[in-house]
Amino acid sequence: MQGRRLATTDEIIAIVSPDSDDVVAGLESWTTARDITLSTVDVGDEIGERYDPNRATLGITIGGDGTFLEGIKTFAPRNVPQLGVNTGTLSFLARVEPEDLNAALDEVVQGRAKVDSRQQVAVTGSSVDATGINDVTIEHVPPENPVDSKVTQLDVYADDEYIGEFEGTGLAVSTPTGSTGISLSANGPIHYPVDNHTLQLVPLHTHQLGVRPIVVSPSTELRIVTRGPATLLVDGGRTHTRLETGESVLLTGADRLAHVVRTSYDDHFFTAIAKKLGWGIRAVDDQPSTPRSETDRALGSGLHAGAISSATPMELETASEAKADPAKSSSAADAGETGSRSDSPAVPSTGRDDRTTLEYARTVATEAAEAAGEPLRELHGQVDSITVKSNKSDIVTEADHQANRIITTVIDNEFPEHGIVSEEQPRRNRADGYTWVIDPLDGTGNFAHGNPNYSVSIALLDCGTPVMGVVYVPETDELFSAIAEVGARRDGDPIETTDRDRLDESMLISGYDPDGTFLSHFYQESRGVRRLGSAALNLCYLASGSADATWEHDTHPWDIAAGLVIARAAGATITDERGDPFVFELEADDRTALLGSNGPLHPALVEHLKTGLSDRRADR
Ligand code: IPD
Ligand code: CA
Ligand code: CA
Repeated sequence: MQGRRLATTDEIIAIVSPDSDDVVAGLESWTTARDITLSTVDVGDEIGERYDPNRATLGITIGGDGTFLEGIKTFAPRNVPQLGVNTGTLSFLARVEPEDLNAALDEVVQGRAKVDSRQQVAVTGSSVDATGINDVTIEHVPPENPVDSKVTQLDVYADDEYIGEFEGTGLAVSTPTGSTGISLSANGPIHYPVDNHTLQLVPLHTHQLGVRPIVVSPSTELRIVTRGPATLLVDGGRTHTRLETGESVLLTGADRLAHVVRTSYDDHFFTAIAKKLGWGIRAVDDQPSTPRSETDRALGSGLHAGAISSATPMELETASEAKADPAKSSSAADAGETGSRSDSPAVPSTGRDDRTTLEYARTVATEAAEAAGEPLRELHGQVDSITVKSNKSDIVTEADHQANRIITTVIDNEFPEHGIVSEEQPRRNRADGYTWVIDPLDGTGNFAHGNPNYSVSIALLDCGTPVMGVVYVPETDELFSAIAEVGARRDGDPIETTDRDRLDESMLISGYDPDGTFLSHFYQESRGVRRLGSAALNLCYLASGSADATWEHDTHPWDIAAGLVIARAAGATITDERGDPFVFELEADDRTALLGSNGPLHPALVEHLKTGLSDRRADR
């Protein structure tokens, strides 16, 4: 889940442990001031009808880790992100201190928090069907008779391959979240939880020399068969059952992830361990971790080796990513052609035309588009199962609305002085400055029919000229982006148009073509003409070489603003139907025709199109 999505939070449900009145009172004032609905539930009670799946909800727990785990049981099955406030003593999971809660929540609704989607472990068997965020342990049952055996013997298989016999107190299967608990004390590894979905199996007090901790993927099915009675505990006993001799249970990664909200007010993972367990794995930096201020954001983070204790979670992850992939650590001057799809710019500048400003705009647009893609994917799934036409259009309207709200809120939070023109809301154009041009859902016809060919299109204009574009395809998770005159990329890799110059070897795309001019003229002349349904995406296919040309009879500015930057930056030639340079006009009353090609094909295309147009006129 994208942290940017939380910018549109309109409901908070808080699960509250006893003695938290002060924190709840503070939360009430904060939510009232922002017109966000607040419901509170005592820990242990059901949230019932307080949760409305149609409202963007944030879950908060106020208490210690026990309350946080109750929150996971409540919120994770509903896909609700959760933030933990620590009023307990020793807390690894609930990491925001009460005095920081308001500031942490401000960060959340500005869309600047991070969401760690944590792996859970699922266990099924004849006597159990449960999910845990921390661990599942299978342990010996204390003997009734003192002379009876005090060990558990367990046969363990991974995807039907026999691993061996675990003889001892038992074993623990932990998620990265749970690894700092029982498995670490049993000599398991530290399991860094960020973007890590593996599970680990750790023997507890093993009597076997050959048995070692094992790390498996979340799709591995661990089958455990008891050779005697045993106790199975999920998350330290939140669910527990007795297993009889010969009973078999299956453990694997749960399908549902738990979405844990992280703000810059949280301690980082190793800082938290060092502080809370006092293990002295390194000196704890006494300086409190501070949120990135507005000024820091504007001036850049200056992250460097040794700065880890004061870096924000986002910076930490960027730093560790960059270590793994040197391309991602490239300076702002060469970040355009390579790197991750939402690289943070190293040094955003204050100069209006500066490249780093556009890099930052691309980062924000990428995160906003990916965040908008989440409800689009969810609603697209529902469209498939609906046959009644009016309900389908309700879903499409809802999809447009939700995606638009996420994108415009995120952009407004980051660039309040910029203009925004979206297909789905009144215009706020800034003709002499920066204006964002947005189509939150391009390809609505496809979307309504359950076809995956739809996209999110976000462009930035500088004094009316498109200079940055992002097109995101939710169903394939592809991200196209470009900065004008710098280069275009798909998922971080550079892309460019083809160099084919023979029409009979070319693949063409047709957009809206009301009287079939384009199709009738080119179908026999080329390798094929495809009619796909998202103008923004058509331009990206031209940019990435899966089509040699694309044609639109008439377009709105938001259909093509982002695709235009991407196609041009990839080397495309874009003209009107007569071969004259295409002029992008945000305020144009009429829709305009667009012919885009790889360049070498353009003269032949224009020539044919002219014939087509004169034929069409002659027919009238
Ligand atoms: C439409 C699509 C389509 C194009 C139309 C657009 P929408 O946008 O881009 O491919 O041919 O001209 O209006 O309505 O799906 O946002
Ligand atoms: Ca459109
Ligand atoms: Ca649209």
